[in-house]
Amino acid sequence: MTDTPISFYDEIGGHEVFARLVDVFYDGVAADPVLKPMYPEEDLGPAKVRLLMFLEQYWGGPTTYSEQRGHPRLRMRHAPFHVDPDARDRWLAHMRAAVDALELPPLHESTLWDYLQRAAYAMVSSFEPAGIGPTATGRDTGTLPVRAAEPPQPH
Ligand code: HEM
Repeated sequence: MTDTPISFYDEIGGHEVFARLVDVFYDGVAADPVLKPMYPEEDLGPAKVRLLMFLEQYWGGPTTYSEQRGHPRLRMRHAPFHVDPDARDRWLAHMRAAVDALELPPLHESTLWDYLQRAAYAMVSSFEPAGIGPTATGRDTGTLPVRAAEPPQPH
């Protein structure tokens, strides 16, 4: 007998179940005209592995993510991307299809889905439509009728 509580990762079926989740999710991303171009690499395979490792670690599985990538700092890692409500809703729609494909018992399903929804809402970094606002590469704002305010000058 052991007193070690079983992790959510083990409860829902471990690696195979998480691998299926990200497989179905990335099938959706690959076909999404807004999300697909956001991914810096043409091949979504490596991004899929990073999400898989992260989710497995988050839910009590292997800690490979942190061994390979360090602290997750997900908000910071998403900062270069234009994550607006449209991107969030698309991300969640593909995740919804992926969660459905797992056919989990209702309690497990809602635990997983609640988390994914909260995480996706937390990742939104812009409420401007794509094409407006600062970008990672520093878009030229010279043509926009706005300027940063001058800092107050000491007298
Ligand atoms: C809300 C909409 C979201 C969009 C549009 C989005 C988009 C992206 C993009 C474009 C990348 C870069 C791909 C790569 O090189 O790995 C990425 C990375 C990643 N995303 Fe998201 N993401 C979203 C939400 C989330 C959420 C909710 C999570 C976690 C539950 C998440 C977890 C990750 C992870 C773990 C990585 C890899 C980070 C790394 O180690 O470099 N993302 N995401």
